[in-house]
Amino acid sequence: MTVLRLFTVSIICHAEKVKLLIEAIIVTNVKKSISYTEMIENLKRDELLAHLGSWELNCTTDEIYWTDGVYRIFGKDLSSFNPEYMSVLNCVYPGDRNFVEDTVKKSLNEKSVFPYELKYRIIHGITGQIRWVFQKYVIIRDSYGIPLEVKGIIQDVTDNENILNEYSKFFQAVRFANNPILITDGSGRISYINQNFENIYKYDLNNLYGRKALLLSADKSVYLDNGYSEQEYRALMKEISVALNSGTLGNWEGELITRTKEGRIIFTLALIHTLRDMDKNLQSCVVSIIDITRERQQEEHVRIDIYKTIASLAEHRDNETGTHMKRIGEFCYYISKKLKTPKWYSDDIRLFAPLHDIGKVGISDEILKAPRSLTAKEFNTMKTHTSIGYDILKDRTKLEMAAEIAGNHHEKYDGTGYPAGISAESIPLSARICAIADVYDSLRSKRCYKEALSEEETINIITEGSGKHFDPQLVDLLIENRGGFDSIFKNMRD
Ligand SMILES: [Fe+2]
Ligand SMILES: [Fe+2]
Repeated sequence: MTVLRLFTVSIICHAEKVKLLIEAIIVTNVKKSISYTEMIENLKRDELLAHLGSWELNCTTDEIYWTDGVYRIFGKDLSSFNPEYMSVLNCVYPGDRNFVEDTVKKSLNEKSVFPYELKYRIIHGITGQIRWVFQKYVIIRDSYGIPLEVKGIIQDVTDNENILNEYSKFFQAVRFANNPILITDGSGRISYINQNFENIYKYDLNNLYGRKALLLSADKSVYLDNGYSEQEYRALMKEISVALNSGTLGNWEGELITRTKEGRIIFTLALIHTLRDMDKNLQSCVVSIIDITRERQQEEHVRIDIYKTIASLAEHRDNETGTHMKRIGEFCYYISKKLKTPKWYSDDIRLFAPLHDIGKVGISDEILKAPRSLTAKEFNTMKTHTSIGYDILKDRTKLEMAAEIAGNHHEKYDGTGYPAGISAESIPLSARICAIADVYDSLRSKRCYKEALSEEETINIITEGSGKHFDPQLVDLLIENRGGFDSIFKNMRD
């Protein structure tokens, strides 16, 4: 009897919900003049769709009733499945049996009026598969707390459980992935970041939840300082936007510059994977990030070393000293800073101005090292070091400025220079800066063929050349900052 009573209890339902559901169906169906048989059929169909079974137990008579759904869920039929507690318990997966028994016992001994819920595994009677079921029941008690009736539903939730398991595995994989991962909704607002993202970017999800992922991107100025042109930056942003907004493209992979909460710049290789609905509307983006900052820095060091090596090769072909080359780089950097050019510009001119005479590698020693004044013909040959330099450096990525300096550093502001005889603003700014820096340093330096001039004599000669040889704006800048130029010259003396 106890067994039956326990079983009774384990088989109850969602009574109120089911009642309401039935009432709602009846009301609706009365309006539609559907027969009672049809209503029952509909209910059965709904039950089938929901993998649902319901049951009731009268605790006084120990009479149990359960629907076809219960048989279906357990994979049993009338002949093999008597509506009693042991029938159910025998179907429970052995590892979950104690849990089911304990929960049922406990619920009977309590006085709670709230529904009980439990989820456990069963072994399906037909397929032998392990299935997950969810059971919810209420115990209706008398005023002494003695159970009178138990009503419940049971549902096969294997599919849900499998999805949850998959989700949980996926979540674990993302959470503890070795690279930072960020997930946004369809409008680009952050909905999730993983552990590694938190570690590297110093944000936690509370800081970022609901905010635009764009806030993690470095400012445009950072892109420009790191070698992107205005045009390249715009093209990059457009490319991403097109990929995300076009239902046919979908994913995007490329380099992005990002910043952490503390403002540290991180160079990344980002893979943006988009998830879309049936109409191809963007629902979510999963952004996986590889930190390539160290590689970028190493590349930059290698790049700079290569340029310095080339510059030192050029020095050896020439009478100029290495410190002359370095000082020119520093003068150009100094002028560029005073002109408030972008950081990449001043960094590049510092690096490339020392390459201005690289074209001298193409001039024979006879002319280059002649211990006498050059003939007119020889001087014309000498002049070609500008075009030779330009030809060596042109069309090479990231060497555009080096090429324009090499090609134009002998042009004069009034158009009387070479090789092209261009004037004023037609001469690239970098070459105008390099010209004044080169002459300033040469005048102040001692050469085998001349003595060094004083700072004052140098300034006078350059002032004299304002608007003729030199850009007058740069001459003014030199005069205003002559102390700064003087310090660079003295600190970097041969
Ligand atoms: Fe030159
Ligand atoms: Fe020079």
